[in-house]
Amino acid sequence: MRVVLAYSGGLDTSAILLLLREQGHEVITVTVNVGQEDDMEGVEEKAYKLGAYKHYTINAVKEFAENYVSKAIKANALYEDKYPLGTALARPLIAEKVAEIAKKEGADAVAHGCTSKGNDQVRFDLVLKYYLGDDYKIIAPVRELGLTRAKSAEILRKHGFEPPGAHKKYSIDENLWSRSIEGGELDDPSAEPPEDAFAWTVPPEKAPEEPLVLKVSFRNGIPVAINNEKMDLEKIVKLLNRLLGLHGYGRIDHIENRVVGLKSREVYEAPAALALIESHRDLEKLVYTPKELRFKKLLDQYWSDLVYQGLWVEPLRLVIEKAIDELNKWVSGDVVMKVYKGSLRIIGRSSEYTGYSEKLIDYDTGWYPSAEEAEGFIKIWGLHSLAAAKARGLNNL
Ligand code: ARG
Repeated sequence: MRVVLAYSGGLDTSAILLLLREQGHEVITVTVNVGQEDDMEGVEEKAYKLGAYKHYTINAVKEFAENYVSKAIKANALYEDKYPLGTALARPLIAEKVAEIAKKEGADAVAHGCTSKGNDQVRFDLVLKYYLGDDYKIIAPVRELGLTRAKSAEILRKHGFEPPGAHKKYSIDENLWSRSIEGGELDDPSAEPPEDAFAWTVPPEKAPEEPLVLKVSFRNGIPVAINNEKMDLEKIVKLLNRLLGLHGYGRIDHIENRVVGLKSREVYEAPAALALIESHRDLEKLVYTPKELRFKKLLDQYWSDLVYQGLWVEPLRLVIEKAIDELNKWVSGDVVMKVYKGSLRIIGRSSEYTGYSEKLIDYDTGWYPSAEEAEGFIKIWGLHSLAAAKARGLNNL
C-alpha cells in the first residue's frame, strides 16, 4: 500500500515509519510546520534515512496563525479556563495537509502516531474522515499495537538507529501557540513540575528585577501591533513568547478532562497565548454591553470545548464563529500590560468603541441621577425579589 504518514521526526512516528516499511508499504512522510522549533531539514533527512519513499515539509505557520490562532484569540479560548488549545488547534490543520497529500499522491491509507488514550486521535481521525471519506484506511500503529515509548525505542534500535531523544523524559508537542508537556514525572499531580520540563520560560524567581511594560493594539479582535509597531500575527506571537518567557510568564499546570474519560496532569508553556487572551478579554470588557459580555462567555466556552474535543468538523463551530466575529467587530483599541516575575497585570486600556465615559463616572463633577430617579429605579428593580421574599416568608438572609 501507499501510505501517507503524519511525521514529526519524534520517537513514535519514526518507529511507525520503520514498521510500515517492514510491512512492505511505500511510505510518504509529511511534516507540517506549525511553528515548532524543530530543524525541518533534519526531520526530512531522518525520514529518508528511515526509509521514506518521499517526504513533504509543509510550512503552515502563517496559515496556523491567521486561520486558527486568530480564532482562538477572538474566542478567548481556554479549555477548562486554563489551556489555550495549542495542540488541539494545530491537529485539524495538520490533518488537512496530510489529507491533501494523500489525495495528490493517490495513497491508499494515511497514518498517524496517536495513542488510544488521548484527544489527538479524535482530532486527526475526524478531520481525515471529513476530507477523505471512508475510502482511505487510517492506520494508527500506536493505538493498534499498543506501542509504548519503550517499544518504539526498541524498534528503532532493532533497525540500527539510536532512538531520538532517548534522553527525553516527556512527551512534548510544540507549535506557535503553545508547548505541551506530558508524562514522566509530571504524571504525579501532587509534585511540582521539575524545572527541566520547561523550555520557553525562565523560572519566575530568576526573572529580571525590572518589569516589562508592553502595549498591544487590537483591530476587530486581532492583535495588530506591539508598542505601535505593526506586525503580522505570527510575528507578534513569536515576539511575545520570547519577551514574556524571559520574564517567567506563561507556565500552566492543571488537571484536564480528556475526551476519552481520563483526567490528566498537563503542563504547558504559552506566554503569548495567555497574554493576548488576557488583553483581548480586557478590551472586550471595555466595549461590550453587560449582555454581550455574558453571552460571549458562553460562546467562547462552547467553541473551546468543540475544538478541544476534536469536533473541528462540527457545523455548529462555524455558526458560533460568525457570532464571535460579529461581536469582535468592536474589539479595537490598545491594552497595556505589565509583566513582572511570572505575573501579568493589565494596567491600561482604551478603545474608540467604548461606552465608558469618564465624564459620567466621575464622583466630583460627573452626571448624577436625581434622587427621584435613583429611588424610582431601585423600587422597580427590586419589586420581583422583594415580592417573592415576602410571599415565601423569607426571614433569614
Ligand atoms: N492535553 C493536550 C491536548 O489534548 C496536549 C496534548 C499533547 N500531545 C502530545 N502528543 N504530547 O490538547
